[in-house]
Amino acid sequence: MNTEITIRQLAWQESELQQILKIETSVFNAFDAYQLEDFERWFHYNPDLCLVAEMEGRIAGYVITRILPRHGDLASLAIHPDYHRLGVGSALLEATVERVRAYGKKKITIEVRKNNLSGLAFWKKMGFITFGRQPDFYEDGEEAILMKKVLS
Ligand SMILES: CC(C)(COP(=O)(O)OP(=O)(O)OC[C@H]1O[C@@H](n2cnc3c(N)ncnc32)[C@H](O)[C@@H]1OP(=O)(O)O)[C@@H](O)C(=O)NCCC(=O)NCCS
Repeated sequence: MNTEITIRQLAWQESELQQILKIETSVFNAFDAYQLEDFERWFHYNPDLCLVAEMEGRIAGYVITRILPRHGDLASLAIHPDYHRLGVGSALLEATVERVRAYGKKKITIEVRKNNLSGLAFWKKMGFITFGRQPDFYEDGEEAILMKKVLS
């Protein structure tokens, strides 16, 4: 496989949105999968922080983040199952960190489902640390682990 990864801003176009929605349903359950309107809301916050990773002419993954007064708030990052463990998630996060830093923010936060062990392992590897828990965060009542990364 050609493993070259190109990171760029999401283009708000049918073909891109279809690929992203397909990734969403292939990696998240029905409670967590974002719908088109969720992406639309986040795209309005910070289109420059809605990024996709392209590999072999396809969208291999995406990340969406917004800028809040004190920090970057990362809503979702997901990689198509065909492209897991190839560094795509790391590349998207690295690009996000650069952009959030350029806004002068020193921290990125995320919420992770308690049972998402692979997600938790990924964030930990990326330098995120747990700073709290939020019971009943998800629609099915599961707890969220609150994590943050301090940007150096
Ligand atoms: C979690 C996720 C984003 C990781 O993306 P990825 O592109 O496969 O991650 P990378 O290849 O950049 O992995 C970087 C490191 O993170 C860790 N990691 C990634 N996936 C992991 C897994 N399934 N289990 C344990 N550690 C993992 C490893 O240390 C990995 O380095 P290595 O491959 O050299 O061992 C991807 O598995 C995914 O889309 N999962 C479903 C959606 C999701 O849970 N998103 C996060 C929601 S909070």
